[in-house]
Amino acid sequence: MAQVQTGKKVFVADRRELSAGLGKKVVVDGKELALFLQEDGGVHAIENSCPHKGGPLSEGIVSGDHVYCPLHDWKISTKTGEAGGADEGCVECFEVEIKDEQVFVFLKG
Ligand code: FES
Repeated sequence: MAQVQTGKKVFVADRRELSAGLGKKVVVDGKELALFLQEDGGVHAIENSCPHKGGPLSEGIVSGDHVYCPLHDWKISTKTGEAGGADEGCVECFEVEIKDEQVFVFLKG
């Protein structure tokens, strides 16, 4: 299915700097994002602030396409930004494009 990418396209990282299982914090336009390299080579980008109390999700423990917040262990999907289990909340997630190992995100607004 084709994805429609809207917003401002911004370079955020070289994919070779990323490691599967480890988040990476980047700052673009004053906004902190957390990048997560997937086993299939794709990259997920979400806001680097847990919906609970703002924990840095880039420092959490990664399991597949989820990350556990380092502060109180909420499980957040790196794909949809949604909190799992009994927890409710959602962080912003961003469309990603990868071209020649260069990772770009589309910032909304
Ligand atoms: S701040 Fe993330 S679980 Fe509390």
